[in-house]
Amino acid sequence: MNICSIRGAITIEENTKENIVTNTETLLKEILTQNNINKDDIINIIFSATKDVTKAYPAIATRNLGITDCAIMCLQEMYVEDSLSMCIRIMLTANVDLKKQDIKHIYLKEAKRLRPDISLKNSSFTVAIDGPAGSGKSTVSKIISKELSFIYVDTGAMFRTITLHCLKNNIDCNDKETVTKELENISISLNFENGIQQIYLNDENVTEKIRTQEIAKNASVIAQIPSVREKLLNMQREIASKNNVIMDGRDIGTNVLPNANVKIYLDADIDERAKRRCNELALKNEKYEYDTVRQGIIDRDNADKNRKIAPLKKADDAIVINTTSLSIYEVSEKIIKIIKENIK
Ligand code: DC
Repeated sequence: MNICSIRGAITIEENTKENIVTNTETLLKEILTQNNINKDDIINIIFSATKDVTKAYPAIATRNLGITDCAIMCLQEMYVEDSLSMCIRIMLTANVDLKKQDIKHIYLKEAKRLRPDISLKNSSFTVAIDGPAGSGKSTVSKIISKELSFIYVDTGAMFRTITLHCLKNNIDCNDKETVTKELENISISLNFENGIQQIYLNDENVTEKIRTQEIAKNASVIAQIPSVREKLLNMQREIASKNNVIMDGRDIGTNVLPNANVKIYLDADIDERAKRRCNELALKNEKYEYDTVRQGIIDRDNADKNRKIAPLKKADDAIVINTTSLSIYEVSEKIIKIIKENIK
């Protein structure tokens, strides 16, 4: 037997005694059955409730279930702006026949949003983030995926990797037929370290190598070739079918994951996007001219928006966020909130 603490939470619909007690009973029963805990093995239980839960102590539920021989406390949960309301939380400590990693923490009703990593453990929840270059997609996707324990899939990196291979082998990126033939010699694989994508070209890690202006420019040409898109589309859908993902790109909400649970379209003014790119280049000690960077982004936007196949376009059901005057953290917070609201 080990002493373990188990967490859980549930929301109530109304601040009434009956609602508080029956919901707490539901939560307690679920914790006990899912973890195979005997009532006599409970050592203590701490309940907290948000400040809008006032009509009864959740501890009443323990007596209704015959749990009488353990220490119990009821506290008010710290108030945090915009946090989940009408919520009862629990921490139960007991002697259990389980290892710590096998414990099942239980989040029910709206409280599922508190812990997407637990509530979505065996599902594939998909978030599509599209938008033009420099709109902030990859920066915010990395933050969000870390916070929610999702995998971040950067689809642009896949187009860049095919571009790198072509440039290395002196293949003209405009030559659709030669690029198409060459695809059979290109093996792309992804590995996720701490949820962040590492990309391999024929077993070589090229995650850093693909981040050049030359590759960015040619990738928007490669991205117009139907055979390239088809090869990558299959990979992208396969990953999304097995994981909770934040996937960013140009056609994720419209084409790759048309049924994504959440679709976001990020945008920002051209000068702000050019400024961000210049800052990135400066950080890497790369030479740049503002006007050239700005024009490069405009050209890529045009290529991405006007191509025939899977162009960059806002999905009808995507939520638009203009990031021009928002910080990275403000954008991330907005998206995390939207995602949590969509966890059912
Ligand atoms: O986001 P990025 O700069 O790494 O993308 C590189 C190129 O790939 C860019 O020109 C657009 C293209 N792309 C695409 O066509 N579809 C995607 N889903 C992702 C990127």
